[in-house]
Amino acid sequence: MPETLTKLAYRTMQQGKSLMGLAHKEASTRLMGLLAPDGSPKTEPLPDEVLDDLRRAMERLIELDWQEAEQGIYPTSLLFDAPWLDWARRYPLLWLDLPLTWRRRQERNVRDLPSHVNSEAYPAYYLQNFHHQTDGYLSDHSAALYDLGVEILFNGTADPMRRRILKPLRRGLNAFAHRPASSLRVLDVATGTGRTLRQLRGALPQAQLVGLDLSSAYLRQANRWLSQLPGELPQLVQGNGEAMPFADGCFQAVSCVFLLHELPAEARQNLIQEAFRLLEPGGVLVLADSVQLQDSPQYRPAMDNFRRIFHEPYYRDYLSDSIETRLDQAGFEAISAVSHFMTRIWSARKPA
Ligand SMILES: C[S@@+](CC[C@H](N)C(=O)[O-])C[C@H]1O[C@@H](n2cnc3c(N)ncnc32)[C@H](O)[C@@H]1O
Repeated sequence: MPETLTKLAYRTMQQGKSLMGLAHKEASTRLMGLLAPDGSPKTEPLPDEVLDDLRRAMERLIELDWQEAEQGIYPTSLLFDAPWLDWARRYPLLWLDLPLTWRRRQERNVRDLPSHVNSEAYPAYYLQNFHHQTDGYLSDHSAALYDLGVEILFNGTADPMRRRILKPLRRGLNAFAHRPASSLRVLDVATGTGRTLRQLRGALPQAQLVGLDLSSAYLRQANRWLSQLPGELPQLVQGNGEAMPFADGCFQAVSCVFLLHELPAEARQNLIQEAFRLLEPGGVLVLADSVQLQDSPQYRPAMDNFRRIFHEPYYRDYLSDSIETRLDQAGFEAISAVSHFMTRIWSARKPA
């Protein structure tokens, strides 16, 4: 397909993925009404200038996503890698689940977890219904609905935001360019249902990929989706990002996407220190998470609404946390950060 047509197809698909959300003021107000009906903590309608700014930032993200594919950082085919049929099947389930979410929110019940869960096996902060979602992260039902929910929340930009880790990660791996690509080991911490591993596989077809998560249900879902990909299946390991079951220095790159805001401050630091331990000297850590108050003060109303609608117990603390300071304290150097739409990307190197 000629390049301009492919680009048009990509933009059209992105618009199609905007099932509901920030693209239109009315839709965003309706979505907030649906997620937080009467009796829930009140949300503020987003002012027009914030919505306009968000819309422009989203367009810049989509443009950059296209450009970085064109530059060869990842294949253009990755831009079209959305499991449409699967999502269509799961879409009704998501809406059928909504009344349960409302009830938990109204009753302020954030410990409504499956009875079979062995609470000894998890840190206390994890045993909650993050986002008020049914079963927290601890069931196949939750894992089946997670990706679609995130896509709707982010107006179809979740994967474009995840892909922003790929450029700094590949740049960091240049330090090992003299080695065979198949010898490089890359770890994705809190890999969830494997969407980030899919992006990593596209950008690094030969590398050895490992995904770690606390939820065996999410890892099962990741296994189902990743086994459809050509090439070697990433290794999936159940574990806590604060103390991971790997030897010192055995990875050349570590990524972690959308986890920091769900951790208490101490666990955030532990995770960054663990990543430092696991990296070979010269290796790169790339983190992606929500933008924060310091770099994106104009989005404060959107951030406030997010924590009012969803159960995100550590988000307020995260918003004013200095990740740069934490990286520095852990021993990293060459620390840099940049924001894309609602996501901030940090990259840092373990001294060689
Ligand atoms: C918001 S999701 C992000 C998942 C994935 N990275 C993505 O981009 O969709 C957070 C994930 O972190 C996992 N998680 C939470 N605390 C963890 C911890 N201490 N160690 C490992 N995984 C954790 C959860 O099970 C969940 O899969």
